[in-house]
Amino acid sequence: MILLDGKKVAGEIKAEIAGEVARLVASGRRTPQLVAALVGNDGASETYVSHKEKACRDVGFQSQIIRLPADVSEADLLTLVMELNADDTVDGFIVQLPLPAHIDEHRIIEAIDPKKDVDGFHPVNVGRMTLGLPTFVSATPAGIVDLLAHYRVETSGKHCVVIGRSHIVGRPVANLLSQKARPGNCTVTLCHSHTQNLKALCLQADIIIAAIGSPGFLKGDMVRRGAVVIDVGTTRVPANTKSGFRLAGDVRFDEVAPRCSYITPVPGGVGPMTIVSLLRNTWKAYRG
Ligand code: GUN
Repeated sequence: MILLDGKKVAGEIKAEIAGEVARLVASGRRTPQLVAALVGNDGASETYVSHKEKACRDVGFQSQIIRLPADVSEADLLTLVMELNADDTVDGFIVQLPLPAHIDEHRIIEAIDPKKDVDGFHPVNVGRMTLGLPTFVSATPAGIVDLLAHYRVETSGKHCVVIGRSHIVGRPVANLLSQKARPGNCTVTLCHSHTQNLKALCLQADIIIAAIGSPGFLKGDMVRRGAVVIDVGTTRVPANTKSGFRLAGDVRFDEVAPRCSYITPVPGGVGPMTIVSLLRNTWKAYRG
């Protein structure tokens, strides 16, 4: 079993970006900037956004978190989006999800200038991604594909079972891996809460991507020997730690890992790759 070490790979990619940023800034160019809008004070969102801000610092990007109260109106959030669209010092920005129920997430995402949509959530960018055109591919799917590529995991002709059909992970990663590309050329089965015989499907999979946010969902007896397992889960569960919680993946690592050819750990697998993909997209937005 080989551990797909996202932390290590992300560190290497960050070092490359940092080198390029340093060269550019030394030549007198403006520093790239990523802005994150954070509505309310959801603990998990706070953690994600602060990781993104730290990663920006690590590579020499400027970054800013704009905090808005949980009861901010949709109109005020739209105004902020318009301001960020118009601000030439902002190369890319994200609106951290989920948003409070009174705000229409789609309306906010559709207001973002696709050229600054480094999350790759705008319908224009989602459309371009599904057509295989150059675009901002959303961070988690891009990170998964980059991790598979880095370890030269063969995907062509393989059966990939994706568990979870979210717009952020399941659907886009299923689409990417089915494309005529490397990595890609998979036969993909996209499973969700209405899927029947999930266990039987998983047992047919060469690659399983678990992205449902249900701790320990994928058990040892659902995975065939030699499979590749990608764990996207990062659920906070109470634990005897300083923070009072730990991050739990969707995979029962102890049961599943001994059966795998490759597996991602949680933490240290997909998470760091997601953040580095966001940096890559911001760098791309900056270069235009
Ligand atoms: N919430 C969970 N993942 C993400 C992400 O990649 N981007 C944004 N904006 N919100 C998220």
